[in-house]
Amino acid sequence: MTTTLQKNLKSQITGTDILNIQSVAEALTGVLTDTYRLILKSHTYHWNVTGPLFFSIHEMTEDHYTDMFAAADVLAERIRALDRHAQVSLAGLTAGTGGQDSDANLSAEDMVRDLLADHEALAQKMRALVLSAEAAGDPVTADLATERAAFHEKAAWMLRATAF
Ligand SMILES: [Fe+2]
Repeated sequence: MTTTLQKNLKSQITGTDILNIQSVAEALTGVLTDTYRLILKSHTYHWNVTGPLFFSIHEMTEDHYTDMFAAADVLAERIRALDRHAQVSLAGLTAGTGGQDSDANLSAEDMVRDLLADHEALAQKMRALVLSAEAAGDPVTADLATERAAFHEKAAWMLRATAF
């Protein structure tokens, strides 16, 4: 069924792009789930980190999960603006899309290594979303994904500079 939004979009872009908007919404759902998984992991490490890096990691993870929690709302609302349901499934959170589960027993250095890998992976997904959104004629999602890629790349730099 064609919705009002799709009709409005269709008046601006081609039918092929309408199909691509569906894949943009699916990609947004993927990065929304990944963002929530990284919020939970950042919180776990915030609570459990020990040793000389305690303060810097404790503070940094709080900055990161606070930013990501706000961003998750923006990502979800963009999905709604594309006329799709915004949903993070619990199965999706545990199944993972490359990210490992958090482990409260890790050393501070291994926590940094783990967070770094997840931020780098999410930055890559955001960059891919920029390209697919642009290809679908959706500059709003492309801008949002650009902003999120910048956040995750900055987070990765800070983590790298903290422990290596
Ligand atoms: Fe706290």
